[in-house]
Amino acid sequence: MERFGQLLDELEERGGLPREKWLYLLAHPEKPFRELAAEKARTLTLARFREGVYVRGLVEFSNCCANDCFYCGIRRSNPKLERYRLDEEEMLECCEKGYRYGFRTFVFQSGEDPLWGCERLCGLVRRVRERFPDCAVTLSVGELAEEEYKRLYEAGADRYLLRHESADPEHYAMIHPPRQKLATRMACLEALKRIGFQTGCGFMVGTPGQELKHIACDMEFMSRFRPHMIGIGPFIPHRDTPFGKEKCGSGELTLLLLSLCRIMQPEVLLPATTALGTLLPDGREQGVLAGANVIMPDISPAEVRKLYSLYDNKAACDPGTAGILHSDLAKKLEAIGRHVVIGRGDFGERSC
Ligand code: 5AD
Repeated sequence: MERFGQLLDELEERGGLPREKWLYLLAHPEKPFRELAAEKARTLTLARFREGVYVRGLVEFSNCCANDCFYCGIRRSNPKLERYRLDEEEMLECCEKGYRYGFRTFVFQSGEDPLWGCERLCGLVRRVRERFPDCAVTLSVGELAEEEYKRLYEAGADRYLLRHESADPEHYAMIHPPRQKLATRMACLEALKRIGFQTGCGFMVGTPGQELKHIACDMEFMSRFRPHMIGIGPFIPHRDTPFGKEKCGSGELTLLLLSLCRIMQPEVLLPATTALGTLLPDGREQGVLAGANVIMPDISPAEVRKLYSLYDNKAACDPGTAGILHSDLAKKLEAIGRHVVIGRGDFGERSC
């Protein structure tokens, strides 16, 4: 326990650790260790963000995808999935509703849908920014050319989420088909940051073949890259994928990783993910208590929510119809001494 605590201090001071020290931390996800990390992470979160938790309205606008990631239910080779695609009017409708509920960030996420090209997305971003000038727009639509990212930024998109999925080339190749390259993913992340996006990377915990050395590699990458946002959730199998019979990732290790991310980078925007909320009944609250400060409820139309099936039994996080401040989520956060913040919640914002 003493060495574990010393390494947490070193992580905080240096913003990173050498490989063997990461491996030591990652090998201790058990409760007493995890709690020590969570306590430190909580202190840092409260110092930076007080009791505020940022919320983002997630619009999953297309489950059509040209990619074929082995873990993901919306991969192109899943013939069982009914595909859908929202149009601009439907998405603006989601935002109208979301705005009334209290959301001031909209996250537009989809598969890599060829019919939603850069031009069309730019048009959407412009309309949303015009209609909701006090809201931030986050995109999460996969790998594009740097020129396209630039156009989206110029159209008014503020943030971009693109999980790196695995920073280790061999592990990356175990969970993706050969034509999806880690180098391309990394080049996209570099480009996004260069352009000026608040940029998010991240990975799943417990994907098949993942070892602690791979997670250490992810942490080393993030310590160098210094993303503005980090998305981490447990792997959860989807029955109609090559990994359908594999087991779920560890919730405990996921929670420890959230704490380590917070300690490594106290200002980072760190969501308690839907996957964590799916794996553990009170996963989102546990995530917040481990250092997360963002929650991303789904504001997509109810009819399509089930079709955006990245993994089995995806938890609902419905903001309800009474507004986010009166939602179940708000009550659950209040029960752990936190509250929802109405605002954009940009990286670098200090107080709530
Ligand atoms: N389990 C957990 N997370 C998944 N994702 C995709 N498939 C799964 C799964 N089976 C995550 C990926 C992707 C994000 C949108 O969802 O990390 O980047």
